[in-house]
Amino acid sequence: MNLAAQPIGVFDSGIGGLTVVRQLRRLLPHEDLVYLGDTARVPYGTKSPAAVVRFACEDTQFLLRHNVKAVVVACNTASAWALSTLTQRFDVPVFGVILPGARAALDTTRVGRIGIIATNATIRSMAYNKAILARNDTVQLYARACPLLVPLVEEGWMDHPVTRAALREYLRPLLRRRIDTLVLGCTHYPLLKTAISKIVGPRVRLVDSAETCAEFVRERLAHLRLLNTRRRRAGTIQPFVTDEVERFSTVAAQFLGEAVETVIKVDLAAV
Ligand code: DGL
Repeated sequence: MNLAAQPIGVFDSGIGGLTVVRQLRRLLPHEDLVYLGDTARVPYGTKSPAAVVRFACEDTQFLLRHNVKAVVVACNTASAWALSTLTQRFDVPVFGVILPGARAALDTTRVGRIGIIATNATIRSMAYNKAILARNDTVQLYARACPLLVPLVEEGWMDHPVTRAALREYLRPLLRRRIDTLVLGCTHYPLLKTAISKIVGPRVRLVDSAETCAEFVRERLAHLRLLNTRRRRAGTIQPFVTDEVERFSTVAAQFLGEAVETVIKVDLAAV
């Protein structure tokens, strides 16, 4: 079997991981992608670590049944809590979003003052802090959970006074700390880039964890000789969800930047 020709598996708690898929499509247009959005159990960001690890293992098992050559954990919360379990338990390369985001934050900062925004669970895990400080323990980190942002983005309120007010409230303490770099540590936050930039101003540079994850996946797959280099036609995306397809399909195009192909509902307990 030609392993490099197999698809890349990507999973997320729901729809947000499509921001990572979008970046993977941009950088790796010839790769086939199998996406699982665990929409029946979203959000992960408010769940306990044990639940997140269990969900992530089930999501990975599902993708492996589709013969994926690698698994991308697009969800920051799942990367924060479950990546080490997944890499130990499964026999394929597993890539998360935290390490690439941490590396990019260190490459970006000039004054060594970095802000991190994410879900409650990601912030509680300290995963970004640990990954950054393991590489450079002289930087100052200021982390803030922003639980209202995921529902606001899913409502489509990217450019809305309520979202701007929430962002101002969340970001004010970080700005007071004079950060020069802000890690967008959640799948949904790339959609708020414009709104965030307006609030933080040009002196604060944003690290988009979806973008940096896709760059990391390309780098690692190249290193492992798993890139689908022979393919000439465009790759495909096969999206699966664990709850109704209708809502997913309507919102998906906004995250993905293109129309989604036929979405299939699956029951993870039954497969
Ligand atoms: N995908 C999640 C993350 O990146 C956000 C949504 C959720 O809480 O499940 O952390």
